[in-house]
Amino acid sequence: MAEQPKAQEVRLARKPAMRVLKRGDLEAIVEIDRLLFKQSRRDYYERKVAAMLDAAHNINASLVAEVDGRIVGFIMGDVYFGEFGIPETTGIIDTLGVHPQLQNHGIASELLEQFLRNMKAVGVNRVYTLVNWDDFGLEKFLSRHSFVPSKRINLEYKIP
Ligand SMILES: CC(C)(COP(=O)(O)OP(=O)(O)OC[C@H]1O[C@@H](n2cnc3c(N)ncnc32)[C@H](O)[C@@H]1OP(=O)(O)O)[C@@H](O)C(=O)NCCC(=O)NCCS
Repeated sequence: MAEQPKAQEVRLARKPAMRVLKRGDLEAIVEIDRLLFKQSRRDYYERKVAAMLDAAHNINASLVAEVDGRIVGFIMGDVYFGEFGIPETTGIIDTLGVHPQLQNHGIASELLEQFLRNMKAVGVNRVYTLVNWDDFGLEKFLSRHSFVPSKRINLEYKIP
């Protein structure tokens, strides 16, 4: 596995290439996520990647952005065929992350646009994602990519 670049080594000399996520990308994704959220979610990503790459019940919709063979960002998502009582084919964006030193270079935008093109190609009508109500930066980013508040509402029950 190629070692991930140290922050000061990272330069966006060329346009990142988008490709489908592979099992070998796990370490790089865990590391980017650790840098972003200041905690390791290795177990979560291991389960997620294993489920995504299980061809028996899934389309692998997740993508990574690569520069010179190094992963600089990722988008993880799924396609749902009728789950949650929704008759149409829908896409879900689970996580979107870009290396902290390479943000504001358009990488997430390219990942998102490619993901949306792929969703369209497999017949998805709508793509959903959840955003914390006070994550205004992410809301602005998604709004610029034509995401709007959904008619579906997210309900929760806190286990006492
Ligand atoms: C949210 C996140 C994925 C955006 O990644 P990014 O690669 O910086 O996104 P982009 O560069 O495509 O867009 C960010 C901004 O840079 C601007 N931008 C795009 N291309 C640019 C370029 N070539 N040069 C300079 N700025 C550019 C965009 O206008 C955009 O502004 P906006 O957010 O006001 O719309 C990233 O900040 C991140 O990983 N955040 C932490 C994790 C997170 O919150 N994930 C979402 C929840 S799972």
